Amino acid sequence: MNFSNSLIQWYLQSKRDLPWRKTTNPYLIWLSEIMLQQTRVAQGLPYFLTFVDAFPTVFDLAQADEEKVLKLWQGLGYYSRARNLHATAQYIAFERNGEFPENYDGLLKLKGVGEYTAAAIASIAYGEPVPVVDGNVFRVLARYFDVETDISLPVAKKEFWALAAELLPVDKASLFNQAMMEFGALQCVPKNPDCTICVLNDGCAALQKKKIASLPVKLKK
Ligand code: ADE
Repeated sequence: MNFSNSLIQWYLQSKRDLPWRKTTNPYLIWLSEIMLQQTRVAQGLPYFLTFVDAFPTVFDLAQADEEKVLKLWQGLGYYSRARNLHATAQYIAFERNGEFPENYDGLLKLKGVGEYTAAAIASIAYGEPVPVVDGNVFRVLARYFDVETDISLPVAKKEFWALAAELLPVDKASLFNQAMMEFGALQCVPKNPDCTICVLNDGCAALQKKKIASLPVKLKK
């Protein structure tokens, strides 16, 4: 099987059961993606559950006191995220009648939403075929395809974005992107991945060439 189909098969069998994987509600997907920026799933999960309970809709979040939002955010860090979250909820609720932008370009204009987050929301909530590219994606693709481009260079993002875009099945954007995230988090980990049990080990160029430890290339810290 090819890379994308094997990856998706692996994901369907190995994915963690996470609450934001049971919905395509753009508010809930947006909330989860903001919380997971620079944050591990295990750390973000209890905060997601607390926020959904306290603010089930974007209107609830918009109407809340900033103080309460910041209080519930306590411990997650990067507090500008919480302030952007609240400001964006007010913009969506009061200026757009609760409607989130419905594509990548529109989402990118929201405060606190960068390329990765816009692609995650657009693909997961709407099925838009835009690839997510982050450290996990650099690592998985660099290893499988033996890409030696230095990921600390600005040009790397373009190159990996183009490769991910080619691999992404247009009708399975949500599955593919979440599979990439999960595969990088659980299987193709930075240090000492267990390649003996990897479903992609057959086609993995880095494994064949004994380059797992040296890919991806990152020259400056
Ligand atoms: N990291 C960023 N987005 C994520 C998601 N949707 N699931 C798991 N980890 C993530």
